[in-house]
Amino acid sequence: MDTLLMKEEQGDIVYEKAGSILRKGGLVAFPTETVYGLGGNALDHTAAEKIYAAKGRPSDNPLIVHICNEEMMEPLVSVIHPKARKLMDVFWPGPLTLIFPKTDKVPYETTGGLDTVAIRFPSHECARKIIASANVPIAAPSANVSGRPSPTIAQHVIEDMNGRIDMIVDGGNVGIGVESTIVDVSGETPMILRPGFVTKQMIEQIVGEVLVDAAVTKKVSETVHPKAPGMKYRHYAPKAPLTIVSGKEKAVANKILDMVKEKQEEKQKVGIICTTETKLFYLKEQKQAYAPIIKVIGSKQDSKAIAHNLYSILREFDNENVSMILSEDVSIGLLKEAIENRLMKAAGHNIIHV
Ligand code: TXA
Ligand code: MG
Repeated sequence: MDTLLMKEEQGDIVYEKAGSILRKGGLVAFPTETVYGLGGNALDHTAAEKIYAAKGRPSDNPLIVHICNEEMMEPLVSVIHPKARKLMDVFWPGPLTLIFPKTDKVPYETTGGLDTVAIRFPSHECARKIIASANVPIAAPSANVSGRPSPTIAQHVIEDMNGRIDMIVDGGNVGIGVESTIVDVSGETPMILRPGFVTKQMIEQIVGEVLVDAAVTKKVSETVHPKAPGMKYRHYAPKAPLTIVSGKEKAVANKILDMVKEKQEEKQKVGIICTTETKLFYLKEQKQAYAPIIKVIGSKQDSKAIAHNLYSILREFDNENVSMILSEDVSIGLLKEAIENRLMKAAGHNIIHV
C-alpha cells in the first residue's frame, strides 16, 4: 500500500483528505498533544481490525475513541457519573482519557471485547479538525508498531507505519510526549489506570479520593492484573536492554561508569541517559575506545522536558550500536509517576539501587 504523506500546514485540503479516507474505513496517523495516533472509524469493526493488523497488536487490547465535541460521545456511553462530568468540564479538551460503560453502538472490536469504552477529547487542533472532517468518532491507539516507543514526531510514524496505512499527517513535534492519563470513571471512585500529564493531585483536587491501579507501579504478575489491558504488555521496549540506576547522584554516576568500563573491556559500547546537571560525570569517558553514547534527556528541574524526550531518546538508541542502555532514574518532579511508569516498562522493571 502507498502511504500518502501530507503536512499539517497544507491546511484544509489535509483535513478533507484525511476525513474522506477515515469515512471510507481507511487508516490515518495524525498528531495529538500527547503522541501521534493511528486513527480509524471507531464505529466500523473492520477499521478496528485494520488498526490491530497495522500495529501488530493483540486484539484484546482496547482502543481509545477520540471525539471533537462532547455531543459526539452521547451515543457511545450509557452513564456519565457526576464525577466524570466534573473531570470533563475541567480537563477536556486535553490529555485525559475517561472510561465509561459503553452502548451497543460501539463495536466489541473497538473495545477489545470489554463493556466499557475509553473516550478522549484531544486539544490538538489538527487532531480535532481531522475528527470533525471525518464526522465519526475515531479509534486511535499510539501510531507505533506494538512494543516500540510511541511516536512523538512524524518520522517515527513513517519508520513504523509507512506502507501499512493510507495516510500520515505530519504536524511536527508533539507537545507532551507521553500518552494521556487514563481514569476509569465507570465506578463510584475514579481509578487511574495509566499516569500522564494530568496528575493524581490535579484529579484529586476536582473529585476527591482517587485510586491507582496496582499495575501502574508494580510489575504485572500472577497477582497484579492491570485494568487497562494494554498495560500488561512489555511496552516501549528499546532494542538494547535498559537498566535504571537509582540513588544519590554521585553514586549513580560511579555505578554507571563501572558498568561502562566492564563493557569496554568486552569491546562493547554502552548508551547513557542522563540529565543536563549530571552529564559532566561521563564526559571524561569520551576519549576512550568504545566510548559511551551519552544522551541528555533534560534538566532535573524540568520534568516536562524529561517526559517529552523519553520516547525519542529510546528510539534514537535503536539506531545506535549499543549493547546496553543505562539510565539514571529520571522519574522526578511533577510528572514523576508518568515518567517512572514508562521508564520502568521500557526497562522491564530492571532497576539497580545504589
Ligand atoms: O495519548 C493517548 O492516549 C494516545 C493518543 C494517540 O491519543 N493513545 C494511546 O492509545 O495511548 P493506546 O492504544 O496506545 O493506549 C490505550 C490504552 C491501552 O493500555 C488500553 O488497554 C487502554 O488504553 N484502554 C482502552 N480502552 C479501555 C477500556 N475500556 N478499559 C480499560 N483500558 C482501556
Ligand atoms: Mg500505545
